[in-house]
Amino acid sequence: MNGHSLRTLMSVTALAVVAAVTHPESRWASAASEQRGSKNAPTFADAVAPILYENCVSCHRAGEAAPFPLVTYDEVVKRAKLIAEVTESKYMPPWHAEHGYGQFVGERGLTPQQITIIGDWLGAGMPRGDLRRLPTLPSFTDGWQLGTPDVILEMPAAFEVPADGPDIYRNFVLPTGLTEDTWIRAVEFRPAVRKVVHHALFQFARGGALAKSDGADGRPGFRGLTPIPFFPGLAPAGELGGWTVGATPRFLPPGLARLLPKGSDLVLQLHLHPTGKVERERSVVGLYFADRPSERRIMTPAVPGLFGLLAKIDIPPGEKAYTITGRYNVLVDMHAISVDAHAHYLGKEMKATATLPDGGTIPLLWIRDWDFNWQDRYIYREPVALPKGTRIDVTITYDNSSDNPRNPHQPPQRVTWGVQSTEEMGVVRFEMVADRVEDEAVLQQAGAAAVKAALAQLAKDGTLKRYLEQSQRVGTDKDK
Ligand code: HEC
Repeated sequence: MNGHSLRTLMSVTALAVVAAVTHPESRWASAASEQRGSKNAPTFADAVAPILYENCVSCHRAGEAAPFPLVTYDEVVKRAKLIAEVTESKYMPPWHAEHGYGQFVGERGLTPQQITIIGDWLGAGMPRGDLRRLPTLPSFTDGWQLGTPDVILEMPAAFEVPADGPDIYRNFVLPTGLTEDTWIRAVEFRPAVRKVVHHALFQFARGGALAKSDGADGRPGFRGLTPIPFFPGLAPAGELGGWTVGATPRFLPPGLARLLPKGSDLVLQLHLHPTGKVERERSVVGLYFADRPSERRIMTPAVPGLFGLLAKIDIPPGEKAYTITGRYNVLVDMHAISVDAHAHYLGKEMKATATLPDGGTIPLLWIRDWDFNWQDRYIYREPVALPKGTRIDVTITYDNSSDNPRNPHQPPQRVTWGVQSTEEMGVVRFEMVADRVEDEAVLQQAGAAAVKAALAQLAKDGTLKRYLEQSQRVGTDKDK
């Protein structure tokens, strides 16, 4: 490796280093030097295809979710200008967390060098190169990625998605038929029509609790983007993770599992995106059982509490940077395993940072341009140690101006907290485990006390009444 490429490597992020080592070094170096010499422009076969095969074809291939394949020379040439634009702007590959602010499993991104190569190739007239030198396509497993599930659940009926129109948020109730409490290590989701499903959330509710909502409008399932665990009437209720386009299903770290109470219904919340022709979606979900109860309870602190209800969201029309904050105090030594964020269409920026007892800080998550379409859960590459006395601060910013292209109100209106997509929520949620099992009781007591205090506070100013009214509206989200 020459001095130039060494310096470049040293100046880019850890992710770039990972990308560099996964390419054979000679090809990496030769692509970089080709791009410098004007006579030797980068070619598709030698320089561009390796980048696309590594970073794009997991979604951009036949039968996958992205709108077109990017495998052959002809497929790529047809869209070369757009590819150069979306890689330059970092719209593709999709990754919504700021690189370097937390280190996550499966991070997607191109190095500055790779972006330059694509631009230079376009500028040089898109030379084909010697196609015999094309790298082999990565191999992708068909079928269940995690092996045969212990239980396979299917949507009771197919849901018809019209050819066009707005995106649809719809919940489907899949009875589990489980007669015993079951510990779940992983959930794998398989859409019937890959192009139509953008994301899925796996939740559960007491068996039969949603019977009244399910199918009430004459079609399978019920509308809305309500977080199921939020509603007391559905208890026991909770979450089992989620899926977004291109996501790789994973088992929880060894020894950990999530409890699915016996008799529960799995509630599959799908974000469906019309494809241009009528599609019938009937997804299946595979559950993978643990053979033992989880060694630790997976705690899910949500900051600010109750999906932002405790932060009293009230966003004036036209406000470009309305901010709420929340704080979580770590009471016992813990490790964070993953983080996700949630807001609706006005959400703009979310940031979570831990401050250690010694004053040092740990970056936990930073989403600069929240996009409701990419509700990912970010799994830390290494669980993050958060010693007792650590403070987690969360800031969430909303843009309620007409400059926000996703603003559901034009002209903008006052927006307060609520479960409908025209209202707002805001939360950053962590999955954490206590280092010592005997500390779990401390956390449970503190959690119960916090809920009690929150309810008392909400009862005083009338917010509780509003919250209970909201909970009656499950399944009646009128705007979708
Ligand atoms: C995780 C899946 C995924 C990966 C990986 C991915 N894409 Fe995409 N891509 C999509 C989806 C889905 C769309 C459809 C539009 C959207 O959701 O934004 C898309 C849209 C596009 C578009 C059309 C944009 C437009 O404005 O119409 C281009 C071009 C593109 N991708 C190029 C790439 C390139 C180049 C890479 C690799 C560097 C890549 N994509 C990686 C999922 C992916």
